[in-house]
Amino acid sequence: MPQMFYLFHFFLLLMAVSFSAQLQAQVRDQHSFSNPEQISSRHLLLDVTVDFDKSELRGFVEHQLKRQQQDANTLVLDSRALVIEKVLQQKADGQWASAYFQLGEAAGILGQSLSIQLSPGSQKVRVYYHTTADSSGLQWLSPAQTSEKQQPFLFSQSQAIHARSWIPLQDTPAVRVSYQARIRTPKQLLAVMSADNSKNTERDGDYHFDMPQPVPSYLLALAVGDLHFQSMSAQTGVYAEKTWLKKAVNEFADTQAMMDVASKLYGQYPWGRYDLLILPASFPFGGMENPRLSFITPTVITGDKSLVSLIAHELAHSWSGNLITNSNWEDLWLNEGFTNFFENRLMAEVYGKGRADMEYSLSVAELTRTMPDLTQADQALKLKLQGRDPDEAFSPVAYVKGQLFLSFLEQRFGRERFDQFVSLYFKTFAFRSMDTARFLQFLQTNLLDKYPQVVSKAEVEQWVFQGGLPDTYPKRPSDAFSDVEKQLALFVAGTPQWQTSQWTVHQWLHLLDKLPRQLSGQQLINLDQQFGFSQSQNAELFVAWSRLAVPLNYEALKQPLRQFLLKVGRSKFVVPLYRALAHNPHWQDFAKQVYQQARPGYHPLTQAQVDKIVQ
Ligand code: BES
Ligand code: ZN
Repeated sequence: MPQMFYLFHFFLLLMAVSFSAQLQAQVRDQHSFSNPEQISSRHLLLDVTVDFDKSELRGFVEHQLKRQQQDANTLVLDSRALVIEKVLQQKADGQWASAYFQLGEAAGILGQSLSIQLSPGSQKVRVYYHTTADSSGLQWLSPAQTSEKQQPFLFSQSQAIHARSWIPLQDTPAVRVSYQARIRTPKQLLAVMSADNSKNTERDGDYHFDMPQPVPSYLLALAVGDLHFQSMSAQTGVYAEKTWLKKAVNEFADTQAMMDVASKLYGQYPWGRYDLLILPASFPFGGMENPRLSFITPTVITGDKSLVSLIAHELAHSWSGNLITNSNWEDLWLNEGFTNFFENRLMAEVYGKGRADMEYSLSVAELTRTMPDLTQADQALKLKLQGRDPDEAFSPVAYVKGQLFLSFLEQRFGRERFDQFVSLYFKTFAFRSMDTARFLQFLQTNLLDKYPQVVSKAEVEQWVFQGGLPDTYPKRPSDAFSDVEKQLALFVAGTPQWQTSQWTVHQWLHLLDKLPRQLSGQQLINLDQQFGFSQSQNAELFVAWSRLAVPLNYEALKQPLRQFLLKVGRSKFVVPLYRALAHNPHWQDFAKQVYQQARPGYHPLTQAQVDKIVQ
């Protein structure tokens, strides 16, 4: 019997060794210089002053360390466009002393390694630093660039690898840290973070934050501005400038309902509160899933809740992404594909199957439109990003093809079994990182092997590792869209009989997707007069119309388009618009003129993208 016992223990030991080997293999992230497999940062203390005069953050970050290899004495952090002033370490006897550090050569988007020599037994280091004008993760806005135009504004955007441009840290999604922060700002401004706000949120320019749950670096987030708070429900509320506060509260009133549905589907909401922060219109994304506080573009506040799937999306990330995190940017589909799938489930539950079906079809249309522009390799879910900017991984492939793969599994195994599988996945790997190989293993064990002959390994591998879109994805026809197509056919035949008074925004979007790309000037004028596309206050509609009308030289669009590009900096909108303008020789000068005026108001990431289009 004792022999059996030892054998069993030996077996456990073997398992543990192979598990930690797997962990180590997993943390090797080509987009980070850091060495968490030797020494990892476990907890951060951020103490910075927000200086709007100099447009810089200044202060220190303290890292609490854990030696994964006992003899390791060099801590490697990531940094980019930072000035490192000094580094201290707390020695085994508790005394603080300076530590020798060295910055590696600048390597483009990756920035520079920051290597710090530690004495044996040192448990903490403090890096004193300040940010610079090239800190790509921060946007500093002058009062004129805000909605209220009275106070300046600052916000961070860390995903994918921009956290290193405002905090020197181990900038890989395979490492998680809990954090505390003290943020000093001008007295009249409020600071918020992806954390618990202090109990004492008196507006005094000295703010304390606590994030007890460990999060990956790309979820560290800070915003400072003339912000006000309004509660929506027990767990949800909105931070915004005054202009947006009431409008946002009305638009996003269903957030608590979404949370309740999500918790019922896939397990209790793990982060306590869920608040929304409405950013100035230059925010480069639709939304960013910063834990406890999603960052949201004001361009989804339309007055009719037509674009609130964005909230469902960012909320869904509270599970897919924030709880289970892609360990590498090559596995981004695990974050975004799961989230798109989850988002659509939430939309169906809260707003009905009809709406969710329309959103699903619009996503499929976007995927099939963009797929041909991508290489075969970039059409696979598992990406290869060696030597590339991870921001390039964000294409509809990760989002929509990922979603369709999961929908395919759901259809084959049945909703009940698939829901169970997803719940088990979230429960099993909570607060850990995940890569494609380990996900496939889990899928094999918990679905493929459990219910044999439903889906083959070859089918899974085609979805994950090959280009193209397998035709096995579930089709979800929509009556509302069939009506659009019927009316469109009459229009194309020259006998329009529009009956659109009951149409939703999604139907209009479908119409604009399907309208022939060759329309006469008179047809454009008629459509615009009847339906007012050029005046639409719905950014999605306005942009879809513009993408149709710019190549056709529709002059009446110029004024509203100029206004839109001067106001909105969301890259999903402005990049395709500038691309359409640059493609049309008659509109290139217009593009240059507008961009020259608009550029200072765009986020550095958006500027970099548009710089490549408009010369
Ligand atoms: N995590 C992304 C935001 C993001 C995208 C960060 C690219 C860094 C690079 C966020 O969850 C997201 O997907 N936002 C989308 C909206 C969504 C409904 C598809 C966006 O910003 O448009
Ligand atoms: Zn997302």
